[in-house]
Amino acid sequence: MTIRRIFGRRAFGFAAVLSAGALALSACAGGGAGSTADEAASGGGAASGEGIKVGVAMPTQTAERWIADGNAVKEGLEKAGYVVDLQYANDDIPTQTQQIDQMITNGAKILVIAAIDGTALSSQLDAAGAANIPVVAYDRLIRDNENVNFYVSFDNYKVGVAQAKALLFGLGLTDKDGKKVADAPKEPQNIELFAGSPDDNNASFFFNGAMDTLKPYIEEGSLVVKSGQTAFDQVATLRWAQDVAQKRMEDILTSTYGGGSEALAGVLSPYDGISRGIITALQGAGYGPTIKEGLPVVTGQDAEIASVKLINDDVQQSTIFKNTRLLAEQAVKTVKAIASGASPETNDTTTYDNGVKVVPSFLLEIQTIYKDNIESEIIGSGYYTADEVAAGVTE
Ligand code: BGC
Repeated sequence: MTIRRIFGRRAFGFAAVLSAGALALSACAGGGAGSTADEAASGGGAASGEGIKVGVAMPTQTAERWIADGNAVKEGLEKAGYVVDLQYANDDIPTQTQQIDQMITNGAKILVIAAIDGTALSSQLDAAGAANIPVVAYDRLIRDNENVNFYVSFDNYKVGVAQAKALLFGLGLTDKDGKKVADAPKEPQNIELFAGSPDDNNASFFFNGAMDTLKPYIEEGSLVVKSGQTAFDQVATLRWAQDVAQKRMEDILTSTYGGGSEALAGVLSPYDGISRGIITALQGAGYGPTIKEGLPVVTGQDAEIASVKLINDDVQQSTIFKNTRLLAEQAVKTVKAIASGASPETNDTTTYDNGVKVVPSFLLEIQTIYKDNIESEIIGSGYYTADEVAAGVTE
């Protein structure tokens, strides 16, 4: 397994205590260092959940990662004796708010939430705060409310940087590390940009990381966004939907690339589902069908099995692997620490300002996957088997 945590541990001055059947949290200046965090980090903390109820709210089952995330968090907590109420909300905001209301009513003592819309949960978080129910934001930061106690995620800005670097590498402008190469194409290359859902806090982190990396190349003229669509609002994809992305790509091909007869070299895509929509549009317009045969370079994220197969087949160029099993483990450790009154492990206490406070975070490392490291990183780590990669489905 080469995915490692790169950050050191840093305890956050915070203590959680169980009181009168509810979890009461109290800030504790300067305390909670050392062994408590280490104990939580090692999977210690509450050895047994002793029937403590945890509500786990996940956004959707349409993307495979959230199914895996939900199952892994549930399994990890149940193993430790917690009672888990796991809900998926079909990417529908009212469904998610209702589910969280219900979790609180049903006696959840801790909430783990991957929000659909990071700004839409304020009344649920107010209710959680009033009932001293700690909230762990899972992968997606919940905004504009002080009752978000911890955030577990990946380094989302770095995801965007990595996607842009993969694109630059695929276009022959740099090596894999982002260093310019001597034999880069002399002619300007056309690219198009896609971003994620505008209501997901992560989407702008991904896009900003990518644009900070691509901008110098756009400014020097080696890359051209021919459609002129470069603002986040123009390139965002509501709910990360594959069909929405496919339609936008088709529209751009019609309006800007002669319906597919003009050169398009690459597309920045923030998520594998969006990448597959883009690829369908590109192939439908006559590009490819493989990169070798002229399909534009398309990036991705999540190492979804269907996309790992496409990468293996020289169709999608890359994806960003975020080992969600490790994220689920981190969420479980965080819950255990909270329940036992220890300080959850954090490694970033400056980046994730939710508009009201900076939420103490634990960020995991990411990795770029190309055809040539599927074997070592994806199969070698046991994430998927070779057969699954070949078939494009998990067993
Ligand atoms: C996650 C990504 C995922 C996207 C769409 C984001 O919040 O960080 O991993 O690709 O949602 O599900």
